[in-house]
Amino acid sequence: MAYSDKVIDHYENPRNVGSFDKGDESVGTGMVGAPACGDVMKLQIKVNPDTGVIEDARFKTYGCGSAIASSSLVTEWVKGKTLDEAAALKNSEIAEELALPPVKIHCSILAEDAIKAAVQDYKAKHGAAAPAAA
Ligand code: FES
Ligand code: FES
Repeated sequence: MAYSDKVIDHYENPRNVGSFDKGDESVGTGMVGAPACGDVMKLQIKVNPDTGVIEDARFKTYGCGSAIASSSLVTEWVKGKTLDEAAALKNSEIAEELALPPVKIHCSILAEDAIKAAVQDYKAKHGAAAPAAA
């Protein structure tokens, strides 16, 4: 299967690989697994507590090229976004940007789930009620 140039680029030059301290008050952590293939993705956001804007992001992904590219892309996209804007990110936008083929759509869903989980984790840490499921 041919990967798109954007997938290859993010795979070979992944942005924002690494971790923040999970216990840091300004950090939200999302860790999700794909039942279909067993891949695991950890995505973290660092939030400015005054503005609620995401200032930085990190990821670690054990998975295929599309999963790595999806998480790399998401860490770039969420910087400068509010928590709600980040949580509204759709896997279809990721899949479109990376030109993922149908069998790789679940890799982008993993990234959407991971960013939602990270926002959720940050909100839970700060006592915000969980948003109703969309
Ligand atoms: Fe997950 Fe491809 S099946 S790495
Ligand atoms: Fe399973 Fe990509 S995350 S094949």
